[in-house]
Amino acid sequence: MSAPSTIRFKVRELAPSEQARFAQVLDHWLRPDAAISASEDCPLLLGRGARSLRLVAECDGQIAAHVALHIQRMRTPIGLLRVGVVGAVATDPAQRGHGLASALITRLQQEARTLNLDVLVLWATQPGLYERAGFVRAGQEWLALLPLQELPDATTRIRPATEKDIAALMRLHDAEAVGTLRSVAHWEELLAIPAMTVLVHARSAGVPDAYAACGKGHDLQGCIHEWAGPPQALLALARRCCLLENRTEIVVMGAPFQQAALQEITKRGISVVHGALGMLQALNPNDLLARVGAKIDSDGSLRDNAARVITNEAMNATPAEVTLFGLNAQRGLLPLYLKGLDSM
Ligand SMILES: CC(C)(COP(=O)(O)OP(=O)(O)OC[C@H]1O[C@@H](n2cnc3c(N)ncnc32)[C@H](O)[C@@H]1OP(=O)(O)O)[C@@H](O)C(=O)NCCC(=O)NCCS
Repeated sequence: MSAPSTIRFKVRELAPSEQARFAQVLDHWLRPDAAISASEDCPLLLGRGARSLRLVAECDGQIAAHVALHIQRMRTPIGLLRVGVVGAVATDPAQRGHGLASALITRLQQEARTLNLDVLVLWATQPGLYERAGFVRAGQEWLALLPLQELPDATTRIRPATEKDIAALMRLHDAEAVGTLRSVAHWEELLAIPAMTVLVHARSAGVPDAYAACGKGHDLQGCIHEWAGPPQALLALARRCCLLENRTEIVVMGAPFQQAALQEITKRGISVVHGALGMLQALNPNDLLARVGAKIDSDGSLRDNAARVITNEAMNATPAEVTLFGLNAQRGLLPLYLKGLDSM
C-alpha cells in the first residue's frame, strides 16, 4: 500500500440515487477531455442499469475516490469461472497519494472473496498500484496493424448489425473456446455503446457467419477489439471498417485461440505483437489448480506439463501467476480471455 493516509475517510457503497450526479464527477477525474462519458462506454460497469458493485471513499462528507466491480461468468475449458472485472478506479486529483484507491482495492478484494469470485481482472497503464495489491500481469493477446492495401475486397455482404442479428452474434460468440455468458439484454446494452460500429458478414442475404466491432467509445478507436468468424471474413470486415472510418490501417486484437486468423495475418507478412492480456489476481489459486488437475486427469498428456509449470520455482513467481501463465501457454487450455466488449 502507498504511504499511510493522513486524512480520515470511510469506505461505503455508492447509492443508486447518487449515481447520475456522480457520473460527471467521475468523468472529470478519469477523462476530463473526453466527449463521451465513461458511463456510456462501460454500460455493464457504470451504466444506469448496471448491476455492478461500486465503492467510494468519503472524506468530510464528499466522495473522494471510486472503484467498480462487474461480475462476468465465463465459459472455459476448466468449467465456468466467476470473473470480477475491476474498473473506473479514480481519486479526486486533490486527494491523490493518500492511499484512498489502495484502500478501495483492498475492500473490493474482500468483497470479491465474499462473492466467491475466482479471479479479478483489470487493465492498467501503470501497474504499480495493483502489483502492491497482489495483481500480476497475466493472460495473452495478439495485436496486428492491418494496412488497408493488404485487405481483400469483400465479395460478400457486409452491413451494420441490428438487434435482429443478436441471435447470430450470440451463436458466434458462444461457439468460441472461451467467452463470457451474455444474455440478449446484455448484447442490447453492448450494441448501444457510442462511437462503435458492429459489422456483420454474411455469405448471402442470410445469417451472418462473422462479425467485428470497430471502435468503442473514448478508448478503443481505430481498433477491432472484438470479432468472431473465419479469417477471410475478418479481413473483409477489417477492410470495411477502414473504409467506413476513412482509415488506411486498423488494429485487430485477438485471443491465443484465434489461431487461424493469426496465421492468415502473418502469412501476409504483417507483423504481430504478443502481449499480456491484463492484470489478474486469482482469489483462490488452489481451487483453480484443482480444477485444472481434474481436466488434465481426463486428458492424460497435459498433466506432467502443467505440473512442471506449476512447480517451476525458477520462474520466481507467485502460484497464481505461474498457474495462469502456464495455462495460457497451453493451446486449448486457455482459461481466460476477455474480448473488448467485456473489458469493462
Ligand atoms: C490511479 C489513482 C486512482 C490512484 O489514486 P490514489 O488514491 O492516489 O492512490 P493511492 O494513494 O492508493 O496510491 C497512489 C499510487 O498510485 C500510483 N498511480 C498513480 N497514477 C496511476 C495510474 N494511472 N495507474 C495506476 N497507478 C497509478 C502512484 O504511482 C502511487 O504509487 P506510489 O505510492 O508508489 O507513488 C489516481 O491517480 C487517479 O485517479 N488517476 C486518474 C485515473 C486513472 O488513471 N485511473 C487508473 C486507471 S488504471
